[in-house]
Amino acid sequence: MPGRPRVCLGENMSADGCLPVSRLVTDVDAGLSDGGPLARPPLRASASCVDVVMADPAVEVVVTRLDVGPDIVRASAALLSDAERQRASRFRFDREHRRFVVARARLRQLLGARLDVRPDAVELVYGKRGKPALAGRFADSGLRFNLSHCDDVALYAFSYGREIGVDIEAVRMVPDADVIAAHMFSRGENEVYRTLDPRDKPLGFFNCWTRKEAFIKALGDGLYYPLDRFDVSLAPSEPARILRVENTTGDQCGWTLHRCWPGPGLIGAIVVQQVACESASPVGSARIIGDSLAPWLSSGHDT
Ligand SMILES: CC(C)(COP(=O)(O)OP(=O)(O)OC[C@H]1O[C@@H](n2cnc3c(N)ncnc32)[C@H](O)[C@@H]1OP(=O)(O)O)[C@@H](O)C(=O)NCCC(=O)NCCS
Repeated sequence: MPGRPRVCLGENMSADGCLPVSRLVTDVDAGLSDGGPLARPPLRASASCVDVVMADPAVEVVVTRLDVGPDIVRASAALLSDAERQRASRFRFDREHRRFVVARARLRQLLGARLDVRPDAVELVYGKRGKPALAGRFADSGLRFNLSHCDDVALYAFSYGREIGVDIEAVRMVPDADVIAAHMFSRGENEVYRTLDPRDKPLGFFNCWTRKEAFIKALGDGLYYPLDRFDVSLAPSEPARILRVENTTGDQCGWTLHRCWPGPGLIGAIVVQQVACESASPVGSARIIGDSLAPWLSSGHDT
């Protein structure tokens, strides 16, 4: 059984190497949903805390802000491996450097909490298309994860024994959206996209984009997996679904798609592998991530 997640609140690094997460936005129990109309309120949100509906109890979702001060960036860098620090040093812009360092440190912290080890002890390997996974003795835990960033927000998802992929995007007007849709979406997706009311197009576009991205990230193939080989739902009025994977219908394809609202103006998608025996997962029910946050979430405070 994995250790309970530990989340620290405060300005300084704690003794166990846990980063302060005063800007943490999180959690399971409110914004992850299989469907529902756009009219659904996009989370109770504030600068520091968001709660997320979790429709799939086998998945944990954490959303973290990456715009932290220099002290936290320094503390974060201390948790990285040498290879990660080298990678960080190659970012030309401070902002990109900070985002990578903080996101990777937070990943290590979240994994360490679930594995009951220090964040800097977590070992990672990469699949042939770059998907990170646990290495060495940690691989046997069955813990799977994936992450995505959009500007200063990072979305993490965790599951046991199931591959998982996530994507987060800011919903916005994209000048070439129709052209991009014609090239990147499958024929069926593009047909649906073209029939959308113009007001629904930005959300329809990013519904499709995040769902496709989450699926190819769950597979670990990234863009090596042909994007026309599968269809996802995208109309804002429709539930989030994988509709087809090659010649298999979505309900038989072995993957489940969820959407989530990680914060104002943001949309996320999570694709998780189905398992034959659901009870095989040690994650049995929806959980609040971070004991320190639980009172806020359950009492409905915006802080
Ligand atoms: C690399 C890729 C996996 C995601 O890239 P992205 O959208 O720029 O970035 P995201 O923030 O969503 O995800 C990046 C994270 O995914 C993880 N990742 C990298 N390669 C991955 C892979 N093959 N599979 C799954 N996860 C991967 C990493 O953790 C990475 O973050 P890190 O390097 O800081 O650890 C790949 O799918 C890609 O290049 N996508 C381009 C976007 C696109 O054209 N999408 C089409 C949708 S219609």
